[in-house]
Amino acid sequence: MFTLADGTTTEVSSPDPGRALITGNAADANLFKTPSLWGINRTAPYFHDHSARDFDELLDHYQAFFDTAPTPLPVAHFTHQDREDLKAFLRLLD
Ligand code: HEM
Repeated sequence: MFTLADGTTTEVSSPDPGRALITGNAADANLFKTPSLWGINRTAPYFHDHSARDFDELLDHYQAFFDTAPTPLPVAHFTHQDREDLKAFLRLLD
């Protein structure tokens, strides 16, 4: 429940309201500040809700995201080699 500038209230339903919890502004619901990937090798778990324990779980998340995208994406399926290459790249960002 958020109070608007004119004093009325509005309800936002979200599993994770994000920035709205900090600002109190309903317009900020579901917004997050996306961090840089430098140093990512040392900052597990990943995502704002720490839902990926390691790079494998992170890539599982993206594979599921690509699999369920409403429009076809250029990266459709990670091969085993793609996953190994991506993990090697992420480890380099130390
Ligand atoms: C293979 C492709 C990708 C890789 C390897 C990758 C890698 C990552 C990593 C490592 C993080 C975690 C940052 C952290 O927790 O500090 C992250 C977060 C994020 N990425 Fe990606 N990403 C990819 C594709 C994408 C795409 C296609 C989008 C947008 C359509 C995207 C949007 C985001 C956003 C919004 C976050 C922050 C999410 C949160 O904090 O919950 N990424 N990404």
